[in-house]
Amino acid sequence: MKKCNIAIVGLGTIGAYFYNFMNKNKFIIAKKTNVVPNIIYVCAKNKNKNRLFKIPKNKWVSNYNTIIKDKRVDIVVELIGGSGGAAKDLISKSLSNKKHVVTANKALIAKHGDKFSKIAEINKVNLEFEAAVCGGVPVIRSIKEGLIANKIQKIYGILNGTSNYILSSMDKNQLIFSEVLKKAQKLGYAESNPVSDLNGSDVASKVQILAALSFNSLINKNIHIEGIKDIDMNDIINANKLGYKIKLLGFSELINNKIYQRVHPTLIKKSSYIASIDGVLNAVIINGLPVGQSVIQGEGAGPSATTSALVSDISSILRGNIKYPFATSAKKRKRFLTGNISSLIFSSYIRLDVTDKHGVLSDITKIFSKFKVSIKRLIQNPYKLKNQSSIIIITHKAKDLSLQKSLKIISKKNYIIKKPKLIRIENS
Ligand SMILES: NC(=O)c1ccc[n+]([C@@H]2O[C@H](COP(=O)([O-])OP(=O)(O)OC[C@H]3O[C@@H](n4cnc5c(N)ncnc54)[C@H](OP(=O)(O)O)[C@@H]3O)[C@@H](O)[C@H]2O)c1
Repeated sequence: MKKCNIAIVGLGTIGAYFYNFMNKNKFIIAKKTNVVPNIIYVCAKNKNKNRLFKIPKNKWVSNYNTIIKDKRVDIVVELIGGSGGAAKDLISKSLSNKKHVVTANKALIAKHGDKFSKIAEINKVNLEFEAAVCGGVPVIRSIKEGLIANKIQKIYGILNGTSNYILSSMDKNQLIFSEVLKKAQKLGYAESNPVSDLNGSDVASKVQILAALSFNSLINKNIHIEGIKDIDMNDIINANKLGYKIKLLGFSELINNKIYQRVHPTLIKKSSYIASIDGVLNAVIINGLPVGQSVIQGEGAGPSATTSALVSDISSILRGNIKYPFATSAKKRKRFLTGNISSLIFSSYIRLDVTDKHGVLSDITKIFSKFKVSIKRLIQNPYKLKNQSSIIIITHKAKDLSLQKSLKIISKKNYIIKKPKLIRIENS
């Protein structure tokens, strides 16, 4: 049987699991693809690190340049991480040296995917990144192949397992943010530095990649990003009382030939499908024609789910499925104008923590009315002992800009105790 030589660079959480999986399942993959995946190199930074598994001496290299120069290597699997540095250098040089590349690196693809895609195209090799978006959920291949007939108008969903675990645990177990985060780190869901999971940037990279594939466009770097770090138990309790759940959602949609990309905590009806996606699960919803709505859900992160996606990419290459990384030639990918979130229309949840004194409520309603924001529901929760109260407002649909402008004025008032909160409501 024909062999295909593979080099793995990066042996951390993902790389170590992937290497061991490939060793154990080499012949099963060979049976399915008719080609033997043959790992000839593994590379990481620190040779002396205790890795809990043995690496044959003849396979270990400390410098990935050895791999790039070796003509026998057919596929390079990049599992270093980071949006630049060694990972960028490795991918760029590997593609230029006519090696296929498989990566799980969303930050790098979102930043340099267009450039890499051109290099891959010129050198007639693959750049595959199924593992970069939603781990084991096969969303990239679904858009490129399964949904090829469709004109996609909107793609959105829960794209980060850590933040979803945190929000659903706060909701179910009534635990505060910092406690849940600690638990998530203990269970290995959140990384030791969970910044990109919590500030929305991890979701943003995934949204940008999915949008480029869905709309056959170049990667659009303009995206509105809000994370979950300001969500507290009061918001979770308020949302519940009003019939909603709070989820961190990523959205990309084409409206009048403009691309709108956004990531933010969102209130969604308890009865909606997406509200039922709890824990570390991810779910992606694709609206297209003629298919209508397609939903894919599954384990979004972690070594086993990510390995499932890496093996899918490797197998595609073993089968000789050489394609453009973003489904069409770089020359044919469009460049859309960007739409700003401020021109979109939302119903919103607004929370104002205020000093409980006469005239506050009428002042707030006057400001909203000045900006044509009308109030659908208003709840006032007084904290009598502190002489404070929390005002919860659900607005009718209004331009995001009007909501922002109203809150900017309200936030400067002397009765405001905490920065006002705005969480957009999604009805789809
Ligand atoms: N963790 C997840 O659940 C998850 C899920 C989906 C996608 N991903 C993506 O998968 C990638 C890897 O993530 P990870 O969690 O496995 O990272 P990690 O645990 O930090 O591992 C990084 C690996 O890269 C190696 N490395 C660093 N610099 C290097 C260099 N210059 N040359 C060679 N090797 C180098 C490190 O070597 P040493 O071992 O010697 O330090 C380590 O083995 C990232 O792009 C991440 O975004 C991760």
